[in-house]
Amino acid sequence: MKRLILLFLAGTSLALARQTAPQLPAPPLSTLPDGFSAPSGYGDSIYPLLGDAGLDVTHYDLSLRSDPRQDVISGRAVLSITALRELNQISLDFAGPKVLGVKLGGRAAQHAQVGEKLLILPPTPVTAGTAFTLTVAYSGTPALQYDSSTGGGLRLGWITQAGGSYVLSEPDGAHTFFPCNDVPADGASFSLHLDVPAGYTTVASGVQTRQVTAAGRTRTDFELAQPIPTYALTVHVGRLKLETQAGPAGIQIRNAFPVNLPDDVKATFAQTPAMIGFLAEWFGPYPYPVYGVAVSADPQIPALETATLSTFPARPEQPTTALHELAHQWFGNSLRLGDWSDIWLNEGFATYAELLWAQSQGQSAAPLLERWYARLARVPARGLPATQSLQLFDSSSYFRGALALHALRLNVGDGRFRRILADYVGRFAGRSVRTADFLGVAQQIGGQTALDAMRPWLVGPQLPPFPKGFFTQAVR
Ligand code: ARG
Ligand code: ZN
Repeated sequence: MKRLILLFLAGTSLALARQTAPQLPAPPLSTLPDGFSAPSGYGDSIYPLLGDAGLDVTHYDLSLRSDPRQDVISGRAVLSITALRELNQISLDFAGPKVLGVKLGGRAAQHAQVGEKLLILPPTPVTAGTAFTLTVAYSGTPALQYDSSTGGGLRLGWITQAGGSYVLSEPDGAHTFFPCNDVPADGASFSLHLDVPAGYTTVASGVQTRQVTAAGRTRTDFELAQPIPTYALTVHVGRLKLETQAGPAGIQIRNAFPVNLPDDVKATFAQTPAMIGFLAEWFGPYPYPVYGVAVSADPQIPALETATLSTFPARPEQPTTALHELAHQWFGNSLRLGDWSDIWLNEGFATYAELLWAQSQGQSAAPLLERWYARLARVPARGLPATQSLQLFDSSSYFRGALALHALRLNVGDGRFRRILADYVGRFAGRSVRTADFLGVAQQIGGQTALDAMRPWLVGPQLPPFPKGFFTQAVR
């Protein structure tokens, strides 16, 4: 089966090859202190210098002391790591505050902050397969990082403004505030210990396990046992009001709204329990014990599917946007990208979920499909694998991705389409995925004609003609 898919891909120039020029400035080699060497990066095809292919970080234990009035954080990050090969040097992504000390196991280790990397020299090489912990203490102002995937207009990472702090990291902002292997392929679970001035409310990815107020500070702990990509972690600190709701299947729902938020913004999220129930019917169980949204004070930021707690701007949004971010909890957070070029596996699927929801509300799919196609017809066409960062969140990732799924659905019929989605999620929940993984499931259940139906949408660059009967055709 894998063979057929590779042939399918090879025959169509579907670009899985690593071909993009590095986009991050290389760390200035001239400034590397003695004994350190230039890190090679994980080798992601869009962000090749991020991460380290020799590391598997399984857990981050983060203690962060912050103050939204000052934009400074003091952190202690304990990383549980397995060496995937022999390590003479450990390289983490970290553009953040000044590192005060690093311990490997319990012992102080030599380190250097170079460019956006934190390099650590183990006293003796770490042998492949070894599990070890790395403790990093740091303090200062989180790094200023702007989003290359949208042309630099959006600040990423830990952001303090208007009397609050929030985290919005996709794609590469996580390393502004904690040292990490900042590639989605390396997911990890998290423990968070967040210490803020009393009077502020903290909410974050995961289940709240403990809260203590003493000596004018409030510490709140969160646990997220399921692995997520680093960019999906969020924290919100502010003058917030928490509102809880009962969700389906014992899922806890908590939303965090700025105290003065208008009701029409909150109304966007009224249908969360029904949406969780609906998507679980299509994709299988919601992947976490908790969900909700946190609305930032900023009206300008894009909505983002931060894990278990989607982040929204302070402006009214369509309920379909709420549905979209919820769908990403399966597609993006639970099934995480093995490579950024496969971003359509996130955006195309979350967009298609909007159509499934619309149909469940008695609406026709036709206007949505037409709108998506019209959006694509206005922009230069490209095949689905992204080849540069500016393509990550373009119309093709969202709408061509969604139309590829619709083409598959029409070919295989509703019954098998459901099985393909549920099987794909069941097989890869908590793991990283590539386009070939999805095509493998589609082929196994839908056969070669299923792949043939998707092919013109997957490969580029031309936009396939809008198929006759694309939405009127009866779904079997
Ligand atoms: N993944 C987000 C979504 O739900 C989009 C993020 C867009 N922008 C960004 N720079 N990361 O569609
Ligand atoms: Zn999305």
